[in-house]
Amino acid sequence: MSFTVVNHPLIRHKLALLRREATSTLQFRQLTQEITTLLTYEATRDLPLEQRTIQTWQGPVEAERISGKKISVVPILRAGLGMLDGVLALIPSARVNVVGVYRNENTLKPIEYYKKFNRDIKIRKALLIDPMLATGGSMAAAIEMLKSENCDSIVAICIVAAPEGVQKIEDLHPDVNIYSAALDERLNDNGYIIPGLGDAGDRLFGTK
Ligand code: PRP
Ligand code: URA
Repeated sequence: MSFTVVNHPLIRHKLALLRREATSTLQFRQLTQEITTLLTYEATRDLPLEQRTIQTWQGPVEAERISGKKISVVPILRAGLGMLDGVLALIPSARVNVVGVYRNENTLKPIEYYKKFNRDIKIRKALLIDPMLATGGSMAAAIEMLKSENCDSIVAICIVAAPEGVQKIEDLHPDVNIYSAALDERLNDNGYIIPGLGDAGDRLFGTK
């Protein structure tokens, strides 16, 4: 398992704007999408390429195209939806498979409540997206939902991760690599990432 913090200056700058308390819902949505696009660029860096011949104005030319497994994007409802357009900006033809998981506010345990998968999910590489990796319970549950459909090629993208969540995924799903804009300090007593972003779902959807 690898955990990568993407240290591009544009990500560092946009993440600081995202963390500001004064950032509006509109700005929060836009920044989440922009950061996700930059993270997707890194998370897809090792996609395999193949050679093929294309016809150009100079005649046939050897060119490359992405080969191997096609991609599906898997947002974890609800907050993962805020990242979806950021991935689709780079991979517009990707299939979208949705999982619904929320965490119980008292126990912090994940509750699965929805899934809608494409028929060929098992032969696609899944880009699992959720802005917050806190205890890791939600992401671990989503990975299990994917693996139970025989989807075994999974990469996770988040915006902010806590050490506790990274450790959980490493322990339970060492085959899943994670890309994040930040590794923050810790969780507080309520399971929120410190300094984190606050409640990402509420900030994206304007529910608080
Ligand atoms: C948030 C976040 C993750 C989860 C992270 O979702 O988007 O899915 O919490 O916490 P964990 O790592 O401890 O499981 P939330 O449960 O608030 O639901 P929402 O997306 O519907 O707001
Ligand atoms: N979910 C959030 O939205 N924020 C956190 O800090 C932890 C879980």
